[in-house]
Amino acid sequence: MTTNDSDTNKHFYDLFKYTLNFSNPFKYTLNNNLQREKASNVIDEFEEYLKGISGKCLDIGCGPGDITKDMILPALDPNAVVIGIDISKNMIDYANKKYSVPKKLEYDVLDIQIKNLPTKYISEFDFIFSFNSLHWCNDIK
Ligand SMILES: C[S@@+](CC[C@H](N)C(=O)[O-])C[C@H]1O[C@@H](n2cnc3c(N)ncnc32)[C@H](O)[C@@H]1O
Repeated sequence: MTTNDSDTNKHFYDLFKYTLNFSNPFKYTLNNNLQREKASNVIDEFEEYLKGISGKCLDIGCGPGDITKDMILPALDPNAVVIGIDISKNMIDYANKKYSVPKKLEYDVLDIQIKNLPTKYISEFDFIFSFNSLHWCNDIK
């Protein structure tokens, strides 16, 4: 049997995602202090700029949604709307149950590496966030 880089990357993603509780959103939120601290530092650094964003925003790889609701949404203009997306349905189901805000914040399953993005995601966003997630993607472009 032969393997290529993509198979190897997928193997490591599958391995790490279980180790890091990507399949168990509740457990993930019990162990994400480091991720929260990193996100908080960036949001604090751009505080003044973020206050002026009143449009539609995307959070790529939102995970369980706690950072999206507790940190991203409050940093924006009150008129801003945020959609969190994640490849993991478990994360998105949890985020929609626990961290959604009617008409302001919802979550959707999406693999950001998909070749043909659904139309609703094309040219729709004024600002895009992503914390602790893009390094899981093989195809950054
Ligand atoms: C370390 S968690 C980060 C969650 C949250 N942003 C945070 O900072 O705590 C990485 C997240 O990226 C998601 N992810 C990995 N590859 C993805 C992809 N191709 N498309 C969308 N989400 C992806 C994982 O399912 C996981 O929930």
